[in-house]
Amino acid sequence: MDKLQYQTLDDIERLRTAVGPDRMEHALQKTLEFARLMTYYRCAMMEIETKFKVLNEEFSLRFDRQPINSITTRLKNPLSIQEKLVHKGLPLSLESIERDLHDIAGIRVVCSFIEDVYMLADALLKQDDITLIEKKDYIADPKPNGYRSLHLIVEVPIFLEHEKRMMKAEIQLRTIAMDSWACMEHQLRYKKDDELDIQIAEEIQACAELSATLDRKMNWLKNQIASESPDDSFKLHKEMERIRSSLSRTQDQQKD
Ligand code: GTP
Ligand code: MG
Repeated sequence: MDKLQYQTLDDIERLRTAVGPDRMEHALQKTLEFARLMTYYRCAMMEIETKFKVLNEEFSLRFDRQPINSITTRLKNPLSIQEKLVHKGLPLSLESIERDLHDIAGIRVVCSFIEDVYMLADALLKQDDITLIEKKDYIADPKPNGYRSLHLIVEVPIFLEHEKRMMKAEIQLRTIAMDSWACMEHQLRYKKDDELDIQIAEEIQACAELSATLDRKMNWLKNQIASESPDDSFKLHKEMERIRSSLSRTQDQQKD
């Protein structure tokens, strides 16, 4: 009951009016169970965010650059959850939320280059506590409006005091260019209540193509630069060879 004490009395009064005094205890119980489930989803987001942060650190040690530009997480709000259940004709129950909705926990990973998107997705999916439920590659196969991103639905364990629980989460991986396009397209679409005019929709799709060209060129440039300047592990290897041969020269001189 702790959590509810922090909510306003108005909230509880509204609930009592809505359900009636007889069902109040039951409604409070359900509210609490819902809040607990949302906490589990928050834990799952924290687990996945940490996994990406670790990969980012490891990658930056090896290649001297960070593949991840930003990570954001979002928990679907109760109203959107309710609307989605109703829209899909699903029961309004906690079981249905866990079983049928895969995007209560959302993690968005924005990378600099296209290759980083796939490298990070592969590295995450290789981890033995991550189970892939579904993969949608909207980069290889963009949506008709031009939307590009790699979507993964995964299951990750969270470790509670007395149990281990598997939680689902939706991960969206995309480049900075894909992210900018998606944010702007979202704003353009949501300003209008009705369908976009065909010509405008074509212009938006053309912008997605422009942004995909930018991504391809940037990725090519990254590889060009990398092939011209050997990476740190190569430099380190050369340096070790130099030290080894100077050491063996010194030892030879000492023998003489
Ligand atoms: P819902 O999850 O019910 O929406 O359907 P779905 O599972 O088929 O969705 P999908 O995997 O295609 O996309 C889920 C999420 O990707 C959305 O909630 C958005 O965040 C993002 N997304 C998908 N399509 C678009 C798009 O055309 N424009 C933008 N800006 N975002 C999109
Ligand atoms: Mg979805």
